[in-house]
Amino acid sequence: MKKALVTGGAQRIGAQIVKTLHKNNYDIIIHYNNSADEASKLAALLNNDRQNSVTIVQAELNTRDGIDKLRNSVTKLDLLVNNASVFCSTPIGEIDRSTWSSIMDTNLMSPFFLSQSLATLLHKSNGCIVNIVDIHADRPLKDHSVYSISKSGIAMMTKSLAKDLAPDVRVCGISPGYILSPKGSKKLDNEESQSSNKIALKRHGTVKDIADTVVFLANSTYITGQIINVDGGRTLNQ
Ligand SMILES: NC(=O)c1ccc[n+]([C@@H]2O[C@H](COP(=O)([O-])OP(=O)(O)OC[C@H]3O[C@@H](n4cnc5c(N)ncnc54)[C@H](OP(=O)(O)O)[C@@H]3O)[C@@H](O)[C@H]2O)c1
Repeated sequence: MKKALVTGGAQRIGAQIVKTLHKNNYDIIIHYNNSADEASKLAALLNNDRQNSVTIVQAELNTRDGIDKLRNSVTKLDLLVNNASVFCSTPIGEIDRSTWSSIMDTNLMSPFFLSQSLATLLHKSNGCIVNIVDIHADRPLKDHSVYSISKSGIAMMTKSLAKDLAPDVRVCGISPGYILSPKGSKKLDNEESQSSNKIALKRHGTVKDIADTVVFLANSTYITGQIINVDGGRTLNQ
């Protein structure tokens, strides 16, 4: 069995990535921070299908200790999916340094240092990293400058690490368009919520669209340094 670590894997897009990789014969480490119940339930469901195939690890990823704790829970690894992220609006003029640090540390610092610290294991397995980016890495989302900057950083990290970890480890990214409204809100309260008329395929994407692309990239042994937009053609239009 191959082994995958999915950060933020307890719910939403991360949980679908976990289920889809499990169906594709990966054993999984589900990382979570606050969603202990969801992580335990998902692990129980999947372990019911295949015994001892899923473990869970709690870690706060915007701290060095949290990253070390997660890293130390891994002894073998074929695939790292950097999915955990924080999304919040940061209207200009209201951004303080602690907001900046918390978003940048979660969305950019932690995937970078997690990738670096797991690189030795990934070298051994000729493994792969898939970073979940965002179409707003290229085109900023209004009132979300810090989030957009963090995603732009992880897009460059994808290309930089693809170079630096080659030839043994591949590093790719997926940039979702609008898939799910942010947690705790019914709708994304900004330009994107009204944007389905700008999506070439005239519909929002699904968690399955993202998870299937993770499996595609994990299996595509001659692709590295590429970031695939999974956005129904949203980026074809301004
Ligand atoms: N939703 C969309 O439409 C959309 C669009 C474009 C890009 N994306 C990207 O796709 C990925 C998944 O999206 P999503 O909407 O499913 O994400 P999400 O629900 O906003 O967050 C995923 C998980 O990240 C974990 N997390 C957040 N802050 C953390 C921290 N400081 N330490 C550790 N874990 C932390 C949380 O785990 P716990 O719940 O366990 O605390 C959370 O469940 C993200 O990278 C996001 O930027 C999503």
